[in-house]
Amino acid sequence: MKIKYFILIVSIMAICSCGGTSKEIYKDPNVPVGKRVEDLLKRMTLEEKVGQMNQFVGVEHIKANEKSLTEDQLKTNTALAFYPGFPAPVIEKWTEEGLIGSFLHVLTIEEANYLQSLAMKSRLQIPILFGIDAIHGNANAPDNTVYPTNIGLASSFDTAMAYKIARQTAKEMRAMNMHWTFNPNVEVARDPRWGRVGETYGEDPYLVTMMGIQSVKGYQGDLSNYDGVLACIKHFVGGSQPVNGTNGSPADLSERTVREVFFPPFKAGVDAGALTLMPSHNELNGMPCHANSWLLTAVLEKEWGFEGLVISDWMDIEHLYDVHGIAPDIKESFYQSIMAGVDMHMHGIHWNEYVCELVREGRIPESRIDKSVRKILTLKFRLGLFEKPYADIKESMQIRLCKEHRATALEAARNSVVLLKNNGLLPLSADKYKRIMVTGINADDMNILGDWSAPQKPENVTTILEGIRNITGDRKITFVDQGWDPRNMDPAKVQEAEREARRSDLNIVVAGEYMVRARWTERTGGEDTDRSDNQLVGLQEELIKRVAASGKPTVLIFITGRPLAFEWAEENLPAILNAWEPGMCGGDAIAEILFGKVNPSAKLAVTIPRSTGQIQMIYNHKPSQYFHPYVVKPSTPLYPFGFGLSYTKYVYSDLQLSEQEIKPGQSVDVELNVQNSGSMDGVEIVQLYIRDKISSFTRPVKELKDFARVSLKAGETKKVKFTITPDKLMMLDKDYKSVIEPGEFVVMVGPSSKDEDLIKKSFNVIK
Ligand code: BGC
Repeated sequence: MKIKYFILIVSIMAICSCGGTSKEIYKDPNVPVGKRVEDLLKRMTLEEKVGQMNQFVGVEHIKANEKSLTEDQLKTNTALAFYPGFPAPVIEKWTEEGLIGSFLHVLTIEEANYLQSLAMKSRLQIPILFGIDAIHGNANAPDNTVYPTNIGLASSFDTAMAYKIARQTAKEMRAMNMHWTFNPNVEVARDPRWGRVGETYGEDPYLVTMMGIQSVKGYQGDLSNYDGVLACIKHFVGGSQPVNGTNGSPADLSERTVREVFFPPFKAGVDAGALTLMPSHNELNGMPCHANSWLLTAVLEKEWGFEGLVISDWMDIEHLYDVHGIAPDIKESFYQSIMAGVDMHMHGIHWNEYVCELVREGRIPESRIDKSVRKILTLKFRLGLFEKPYADIKESMQIRLCKEHRATALEAARNSVVLLKNNGLLPLSADKYKRIMVTGINADDMNILGDWSAPQKPENVTTILEGIRNITGDRKITFVDQGWDPRNMDPAKVQEAEREARRSDLNIVVAGEYMVRARWTERTGGEDTDRSDNQLVGLQEELIKRVAASGKPTVLIFITGRPLAFEWAEENLPAILNAWEPGMCGGDAIAEILFGKVNPSAKLAVTIPRSTGQIQMIYNHKPSQYFHPYVVKPSTPLYPFGFGLSYTKYVYSDLQLSEQEIKPGQSVDVELNVQNSGSMDGVEIVQLYIRDKISSFTRPVKELKDFARVSLKAGETKKVKFTITPDKLMMLDKDYKSVIEPGEFVVMVGPSSKDEDLIKKSFNVIK
């Protein structure tokens, strides 16, 4: 008997000490995450670990491309993520074998649940993490709420709205089994030729920072409630001021500029708890960001203490070899990026093989792999994926596109439309006009959804034409369709609009860029769609001029992600609106503004330069920038940062500072009165700028340091208060340390960044 017991005990001990068969602690939700991670990690083979670090594109995307690509494209086209000789069934098999940690571009809940079911067949049943570019709602996938893009949201200066949209987006994402958005894009956009301005919060580091923080918080919420998703601050860094304005081209920026302008939103995102980060396509001062250990390790990890996950951008690790030429082959690219600090690879079939080889060859220590895998597993546990790998198909549509979310999309769109010019024509009275012509490429098109959107069901989108008809009824409106394609407009249709304009009492032209992803190569704006100028494409200018020649009042509306300039319109038309990419409710929001049901309140989050030659045109430039102004043409922008009109008038007065002198570390309170002296209720975006007059390094002529959305009834006056805290007075010394230097600081408050719009007072910082 005794011998039998002994054998039994030894057998139990043997089972317990063997990783594969001992109690699976990692599956127990009551065990702390750290312990679950360690338990799981020790059970994993090297292949499984490296597989966790690899992300693939969804199989439906691959299948669709298999059908639509030509033989030639199939061999060469990596942009569509099709890997010759590696069809969908192989990806499915890898998933079942636990060799893929994450997918992106999965567009339906059915596919997400299906891929998850494959992962659940794998040895360790590690769930898949699904990532997607939910930039303004989960708009890349059908049947989700589509909000205005980031540039429109930023124009509302409404950080609470940024939080709300991110929260709602996270809920819609979880409702279709998505766990990770590649947003917020917290790049400071300083070149309107760059096609991605629309997915940023504009040119001002402070505004970008504030919007970014709230977006991060909104997306992530409380991860353990199953309604938060991972936020990804991107792209780190400098790609928003690329040479020539083209996406991914080099960024040649001094360390001072990088630290003063481009770093703050990322640092704030890290401090706000962003759990993931994506490096940018470009090289920064000669070193591609995906191999840049100064950026990813020295600054991000060591200086800022970022412990989250670094995901590479699309093919950018491969580009270390085949574009930048800093690696002799792809395997070396993988080595360089892992050693620089990248944790996960955005899609590709060679990763698993080469990275395992690099470990076996002793070039990458397995501890370095474990570091990345720990992060990935930790996030999967924190998201609750082990407990709830699937989303409920029946419940999904109760959350997505629900009434509350649509109402938010409408409110956000209303608050994002910038009124650039109004000589009194607006608001329109529906009764006054018997015949209204509507025309232009963006008048009746889903392009209002903006970049990073899939086409949505027509019943879920209100085009501008529909929005106008919702107010005026059908009878009054004549629509002259110019098609959707700015590059291929029909001169006969332009002439038809010209004739129709003469017969109408009022004309509305909806012009701008074309951003629809489904027609990738025909776009004029959006990702990878950079321009060598910031003017209108095709016959659009001609259309506007011919319509205006009718002598009938003409309203111009821009739908665009980048700041577009049309000086002639500013000089000749009575009313101009910039509606950015307003999302699914854009048509209603614009019509409500045109007809005075809503008082516009948005202000530009980017400067609009008159011409390409003026670029770089930013409000927070250095004092010497226009010491010698341009000759022949003006040095001023067409519209400055922070500018936007309303249907009422706001009067600023009684600016008071609590102190004339402070010591470093002390604060100054600012108070002023803002009066709505017009006859319509409204919201004014009050802006506070600071200038550091004397400093050991040059400082911008002004910098936004605070703002407030103040709602004012007609005739009402409100006291607006700000506090200038020490952090708002800081600059970087010669060692890039934050310091407050003694001297005069000018406080400027007003409705835009334009000097003439600002009331000013100074205080001194003394030693
Ligand atoms: C973009 C990223 C995006 C990724 C996945 C890349 O081309 O630069 O911002 O997250 O694609 O869609």
